[in-house]
Amino acid sequence: SSEAELIHVFNGIPFTTRSSPELLKSLDTFDAREDDILLVSYPKSGTHWLAGVITKLYNTQVTLTSPIEFGDISKLEELNKLSSQRIIPTHLDYNMLPPNFKNKKCKMIYISRNPKDTAVSMYHYYRDNPNLPTVDTWTAFFDLFLKGEVVCGSWFDHFLSWEEHENDKNILFLFYEDMKKDLPKIVNDISLFLGLTISDNDIQDICKKSSFSEMKSNTEKENSDPSHTVCALTSNRKLIFRKGAVGDWKNHFTPKQNRRFEEIFNEKMKLSKM
Ligand code: A3P
Repeated sequence: SSEAELIHVFNGIPFTTRSSPELLKSLDTFDAREDDILLVSYPKSGTHWLAGVITKLYNTQVTLTSPIEFGDISKLEELNKLSSQRIIPTHLDYNMLPPNFKNKKCKMIYISRNPKDTAVSMYHYYRDNPNLPTVDTWTAFFDLFLKGEVVCGSWFDHFLSWEEHENDKNILFLFYEDMKKDLPKIVNDISLFLGLTISDNDIQDICKKSSFSEMKSNTEKENSDPSHTVCALTSNRKLIFRKGAVGDWKNHFTPKQNRRFEEIFNEKMKLSKM
């Protein structure tokens, strides 16, 4: 398909045509519920991993939906009809988030990842996904990523829009690298944030079931209906569970690309605490 059939720009941000302009326009009127939980991320930051952990924390019935911005206008009605507690992923930046989530102080978890690894992960995702424009080389993708001309726009703008709210009591900030380093601690932090009581044994069990190898082999066994996955852009689970490593950027970035990335990072992030 041509790029025009796959991508459209809304509010200056590239979206896939799987997010209809009508849906994006109507997000402002979305009726949030106080107990909604939002899983927020820039693509390829570990959203599926986080969703896997969180759904295992609950004994009660919860529904993990597809991202709120995926689908057509009927999406909001579909979400309205769910009777169980909703766990709603989203790649929206803070400014585009339906205001009702903010007004009702819904709990939100923002997961972030080293943008260099995020870029590499996204490159592989683009390359193997027919629902995204073709990219011929890593060099070409690298330029698009730095310019923010990829789905969900600029990593920097996304991160900064959320970082501004890092001290809001209803928002928990997590890093992919911290989950890799000490998953039990992060699972404990998440359960405290969500107000759930959980034993050390449960934490161990959740960590075991959320390891890269477990999650990769489990989802490959599942039926691959894309409407039942966090990422509604593919039914190919191999695209989501690729390598699961920290530092894969070193296998892709040239020294020159690394210097350029750092220059832009330092400039864009000069007001950031990161
Ligand atoms: P890689 O492409 O670097 O392997 P998202 O879920 O936001 O699309 O992010 C996908 C990235 O998270 C992929 O990165 C994927 O391998 C990684 N990932 C998914 N599950 C994981 C797990 N259980 N442990 C570590 N990394 C995981």
